[in-house]
Order: sequence, then structure tokens, then C-alpha cells
Amino acid sequence: MAGEFAIEMKDVLKQFVTPEGGILPAVDHVDMQIQDGEFFSLLGPSGCGKTTSLRMIAGFELPTSGSILIRGKEMSQVPAHLRPVNTVFQQYALFPHMTVEQNIGFGLEMKGVGKAERAKRVAEALEMVRLPGMALRRTKQLSGGQQQRIALARALVNKPEVLLLDEPLGALDLKLRKEMQLELKTLQREVGITFIYVTHDQEEALTMSDRIAVMNKGRALQVGLPEEIYERPADKFVADFIGETNFLDGSVLGQSGSTVEIDLPGCGLARVESSRTFTRGQPVTITVRPERLHLNEPFENGNNLKGRVEEVIYIGTDTQYGVRFSERHKVRVREQNATQAQKEIARRGDEVIVSFTSASPRLLTE
Ligand SMILES: Nc1ncnc2c1ncn2[C@@H]1O[C@H](COP(=O)(O)OP(=O)(O)OP(=O)(O)O)[C@@H](O)[C@H]1O
Ligand SMILES: [Mg+2]
Repeated sequence: MAGEFAIEMKDVLKQFVTPEGGILPAVDHVDMQIQDGEFFSLLGPSGCGKTTSLRMIAGFELPTSGSILIRGKEMSQVPAHLRPVNTVFQQYALFPHMTVEQNIGFGLEMKGVGKAERAKRVAEALEMVRLPGMALRRTKQLSGGQQQRIALARALVNKPEVLLLDEPLGALDLKLRKEMQLELKTLQREVGITFIYVTHDQEEALTMSDRIAVMNKGRALQVGLPEEIYERPADKFVADFIGETNFLDGSVLGQSGSTVEIDLPGCGLARVESSRTFTRGQPVTITVRPERLHLNEPFENGNNLKGRVEEVIYIGTDTQYGVRFSERHKVRVREQNATQAQKEIARRGDEVIVSFTSASPRLLTE
């Protein structure tokens, strides 16, 4: 049904001509549908096409081909200032010689909104970002976190249907960044505006988003809920980019029902649950998170692989063990230090058993 989504990207391609004369697909045939009121993140490494995607939604850039719809309406003929979206950039670009009030109200003034109405909306916006009473300050008299809020207020004052945020917390220190993450999430829930949030920080995306699109080299590799992306990564890139993980290369020996038996040369057999069908001899990679592996607690119906501890890293809440099974196979195991005894499960050089259930890993194919 038309108009069902806040934003829709349909087979969007954006090519840039490089100075060397080549053609770079900065956004490479991306399809994405963003729901009304959703906190949606674009997550990926530097250069993967996040900002270019935002700029096309905002109207600062036109797609080479494909289309962008806002509430079901094709946007290619609609200039940036007429689109119901606003952008908050990493560099806030506040006017230093103006007061907070003037900064926030500037866009409204340009649109010819009257003084009284302007003052009312600026006050509302300041309330939203929890900075009431700051209207008369100059922006250079504000901290980084406060400036960030003013930049946000300046976008919210226009009452956009969709807010585009391009690494808005990038300039803040870690502690303030974490505080602002929670505040932004709360604010988004309260005002109900659709947020499209760009970040290259996977933890930030997991914390804040309703759904995440993981991008690499211009392509959207997986779109899903945070837990789907973490628990069921679609491929090696996603598994590796989100959180920490282990990869064990092997080949399929056989399959009975949903249980796949995999030969890991040099370290034995593993059984892994999968809903997919594999052929005998097919190369596969087992991916399993460090916190799903256990040391020296063999499972009766699970996988128990023998290895040797190569490193022990104490990280306060957890201890991370590097365990080698064979020349090709090594894993990291994370054990919580919930008790004193757990802190001393194994030492460097010890022979250990690493266990995991057949349901813990994912099977990836090339
Ligand atoms: N105007 C342009 N002309 C040529 N190439 C461009 C242009 N804008 C971006 N690119 C290239 O397109 C690719 C995607 O850039 P983009 O800015 O979208 O990445 P990003 O995901 O936002 O990265 P970052 O996390 O570093 O901000 C990069 O390789 C970049 O060099
Ligand atoms: Mg960018």
C-alpha cells in the first residue's frame, strides 16, 4: 500500500566519478523500508555509504538510478527544503555570534514564522532537549553536550516527520555519549518522530535502534532487529562487525534433519543446528560468540573440543581465554567472573575442553 512507510529506498544506486576516472558505487542497489515512528540505524565502517544514503533522503544528492519515497511519494522532483525531513550533522554548525534562541529559531524566521509563534516553538524545542531557560545564552558559552542538544532542538523546531542524524554524538566523550544515547532514545519515543541514525559504532546501534541496516561497500547486507543481527548474522561480515565472534572453518560430513555434522580438520567433529540444507563436502564456517563457549564444563549432548590455552586476559567482569584447537582453529572464550573460583578456570598452557550447544553457533557459507 502506498504511503505505508515513512521512507522507502527502492533499488537505489549512487555512483560517483572518482578523480582517477573510475566509477564508484557509493550506494549499490539498496532496498530499505523504514516504518513510521521507527528508530532506524545505518551501521557500517567508514566509506560504506551511510552519509550518501542520508543525503539522498534529505535531497542534497539525487540517486543515479532507483527511487526514494517519503510516505509513498516519489521524491526525485522535490527539492531538499520541501521534504518533510531535517538533518542533524556531526558538525553542529551552530552560529557562534547568535544566542541559543536565535540559532533554533533561524530556520523559522527564514520561513516567515512570526515572532510570538517562533518564541513558543523555540521554548518547546528547548524543553524537549531538556535545556529550558537557556534561550539567551550564546552557543560558545555551552558545553559540547549542550551544543549537541541545541543542534537537535534546531531540527526538532521544524516539526519534521523524519529526522536524519549523521553521527550526531561523534564529537562527545564516551560518558556523555552514553548519556546522550539514552536521552535521544527517550526523546524519540516521546515525540514519535521517525529517526534515521547513522553510526559506525555497533554498540551504539544495538543500544538505540528498533532496527539496524548493516552496510558495507555501498550494500545493505542485513536489515533486522538488534537481536536478529547479533544472533543470526547473515554473513561473515555482519558476524564480524557486530560484537565479537569466532570463526571455525570446516566441511559438511552429513545432515540428519536440522542437525548438521561438520568436520573441523585437526580438532574433530561439531554438530550444529540449522534450518538450511547442506550437501556433503560443502565448505562451511561455524560462527559462535565467545560468551556462548564454556571452559571445562563438558556438555553431555553438546560439542566438546579439546584445546590448549594460549592467552588469558582479565577484563574485570569477565576473563577472556584464547584457546587453540589446531593450526587453523582458534577461539576466544569469555567467562564471567561471577565468583572468585570462576576467575581461575584455566591458566596459559593448560589443556582444556571448550563446549557449546549445537544451537549456539550459526553456519555460514560463502
Ligand atoms: N561527492 C563525492 N564524490 C566522490 N566520491 C564521494 C563523494 N561523496 C562520497 N564519496 C565516496 O563514496 C563512498 C561513501 O561515502 P560516504 O560519505 O557515504 O561514507 P560513510 O559511510 O558516511 O563513511 P564515514 O563513516 O567515514 O562518514 C566513499 O568511498 C566516499 O569516498
Ligand atoms: Mg559519513
